[in-house]
Amino acid sequence: MLISFEGIDGCGKSTQIGRIRDRLVAAGFGVDLVREPGGTPVSERIRELLLDDSLHVDPLSELLLFSAARAQLVRERIRPLLAKGRVVLCDRFFDSTTAYQGGGRGVADPEWLDAFHRRVTGGLAPDRTYLLVVSPRVGAARRTERAADRMEQAGEAFLERVDAAYRVLAAAEPERIMLVDGEADPGVIAERIWADLAPRLSG
Ligand code: TMP
Repeated sequence: MLISFEGIDGCGKSTQIGRIRDRLVAAGFGVDLVREPGGTPVSERIRELLLDDSLHVDPLSELLLFSAARAQLVRERIRPLLAKGRVVLCDRFFDSTTAYQGGGRGVADPEWLDAFHRRVTGGLAPDRTYLLVVSPRVGAARRTERAADRMEQAGEAFLERVDAAYRVLAAAEPERIMLVDGEADPGVIAERIWADLAPRLSG
């Protein structure tokens, strides 16, 4: 089973992924965590390029690099893990590209991206996606303790567009994407996600 977590920077994904991983392990599931971009040697190298604030990355190149990192991750890690029956928790997946490169940068429209993502992942899509929603202001305030990377330097107007694109996606695919209030107490958020996820788990 493939589960992805999405949201703008500072939405609290990492905290929730950790909590859900712990609950899955306690319930006896074999769990693996992967992050995007990253998760394989090639994808981690691509991540360095993408987040390096000394580089100018053209928006179309950016879309292709995020997707290249994903193609590698799917084939080298996610597919083999799913074949072994593992539960894979993905810190971002193709919805991030639709929201950030499609909505934020305006590089491509959602229909084109939808077909493209299918080529990139060979048709693999998350079984369930948790979209943590926080206002761009709250997101930005939560990550002031470290320097912003290249993507985070894009600013609040950019994050507003990303946020809007995420909401459009969630409305278009309610059977896959669950909206979760990311400004609630972390314990409450974890309970909500677990209440939704637990009945979907098999075995
Ligand atoms: P992270 O901070 O959640 O690790 O994500 C890295 C940054 O990359 C974050 O600002 C979101 C951005 N991103 C995209 O713009 N497109 C993508 O497809 C992915 C996976 C991440």
